[in-house]
Amino acid sequence: MQVIAIVPAAGGGTRLGAGVPKQYLPLLGKPILAWTIRALLAVPRIGEVIVVVPAGDEGRVAREILAPCGLSVARVVAGGAERQDSVREGLRVASGAELILVHDAARPLIGAAVVEAALAAAAETGGAVVAVPVTDTIKRADGAGCVAETPPRGHLWAAQTPQIFRADWIREAHARALADGVSATDDAMLVERLGYPVRLVPGSTENLKITTTADLMAAEQILRGRGVTW
Ligand code: C5P
Repeated sequence: MQVIAIVPAAGGGTRLGAGVPKQYLPLLGKPILAWTIRALLAVPRIGEVIVVVPAGDEGRVAREILAPCGLSVARVVAGGAERQDSVREGLRVASGAELILVHDAARPLIGAAVVEAALAAAAETGGAVVAVPVTDTIKRADGAGCVAETPPRGHLWAAQTPQIFRADWIREAHARALADGVSATDDAMLVERLGYPVRLVPGSTENLKITTTADLMAAEQILRGRGVTW
């Protein structure tokens, strides 16, 4: 099955400081975005990678991040205001694939084996999401800051990326979400609401989403622990 990967990397993500979007910040000397793309290019079944960056950054990302790191991608396109808009822009230029894989630029530590497992699940079921069972007890809050509900932890998973879907399902999901004015923090939610099955594929807590300085330090430790150098 032909697979195209879309990497949403169009977030402003300046919580890490420096006024630079977090996906451009260095992780052991190379941009976070470069690590993420390299990890996806290492998966033989992924035929093409499409990178979605903040509007106006397309040329700079190609020249200053991808080329110097020796990374070859199919397209670098401009994203939108929200992650969902950015994925939609990626979908617009992704043609010919049977499966579309979406993986956040902010998760540079994804391993090839987990991607392969998710691809196999998506090929079978039509949809697959890499996720980890939650270790904290999760509370749903009411509007007044009190606990409204404590769902049983045994059934709860924290969704990560990659998330992989049949191309026709994810296209339909994004088109219907746009038409219905629905916004979601991940792609699976848009596919789920159409009633299509999405398999949970056990991943790793090492596949962290870099959000804070502590995450960046943890990511460096994990890479060092793996003995990985660029
Ligand atoms: O902000 P957060 O970490 O949840 O973003 C997840 C991913 O979505 C990041 O890789 C970020 O660059 C991307 N994103 C995007 N377009 C936006 C907002 C976020 O591509 N408008």
